Amino acid sequence: MVAPARALYVPVILGTVRQGRMSLPVARVVLSELSRRPDLETELIDVAQLPLRVDDAGEATKDAGFSEKMRRSDALVLVSPEYNHGYSGLLKHVLDSCLKEYVHKAVGVVGVSAGPFGGARGIQDLLPVLRELGLAAIFWDVNFSTVQNAFDESGTLRDQAYLPRIDKFLNELVWMATTLRHGRERVAMPQSESPMRCPKCGAEMNHHAEKVLQAADPAEEWSVDPALGGVVEAMHSCPACGANASRRASAPA
Ligand SMILES: Cc1cc2nc3c(=O)[nH]c(=O)nc-3n(C[C@H](O)[C@H](O)[C@H](O)COP(=O)(O)O)c2cc1C
Repeated sequence: MVAPARALYVPVILGTVRQGRMSLPVARVVLSELSRRPDLETELIDVAQLPLRVDDAGEATKDAGFSEKMRRSDALVLVSPEYNHGYSGLLKHVLDSCLKEYVHKAVGVVGVSAGPFGGARGIQDLLPVLRELGLAAIFWDVNFSTVQNAFDESGTLRDQAYLPRIDKFLNELVWMATTLRHGRERVAMPQSESPMRCPKCGAEMNHHAEKVLQAADPAEEWSVDPALGGVVEAMHSCPACGANASRRASAPA
């Protein structure tokens, strides 16, 4: 694989705030394996550490720091515990705070459960959510089943068989992240709009996606496309510096 000119940025999101959460040692192992890889930058984003508003939902709760990390990211690893055969509500709440930031980025999910299914049921339920966010899910998962037995008291991984599975999962994630970055920055939409200038470096950006959003402001009603039921936002990425930006697509004729 050709090394990207800029390091890929692949944060790991720890998707639970539960006291005594076993998803924490899982996230640390995945982070450690990611950190060994060349040409890649990573960090742990702990939903328990985010200044999370719970008096609203969706983009109204957006945190500037988290949003910037999502905008910068090329791929995400979600560490997703299984709660009552579903995913963590707070992981969903945090993911819902962004939208445009995710478009055409890769995502892989590490499921964690006390039972024998390794969080698989929560992962399956998460997939349509990720798709609606514009993320592209890889076909490898990692499944930590009976996770309470997978680590010793110091948080060290007991079962080394997880490591080659994590390795294959990360290989697929990095391939998808590299390929999607190329697409965002170099492969234009059919009938692409006139180029947008990069707000960071001034280079010509690439128009790689369109997403229908609901008009939040009545003043924007002019740009509602009646055939599509919302305003169309055009996503652009910069091949020179990797910045992502968007603007309203042209008004319907
Ligand atoms: C509200 C709740 C529901 C849970 N439901 C399930 C479940 O459906 N299946 C399962 O295998 N484990 C279930 N568990 C156990 C978690 O999967 C287990 O705690 C695991 O370590 C991952 O979550 P954690 O990071 O919070 O520890 C549940 C835990 C909680 C707190």
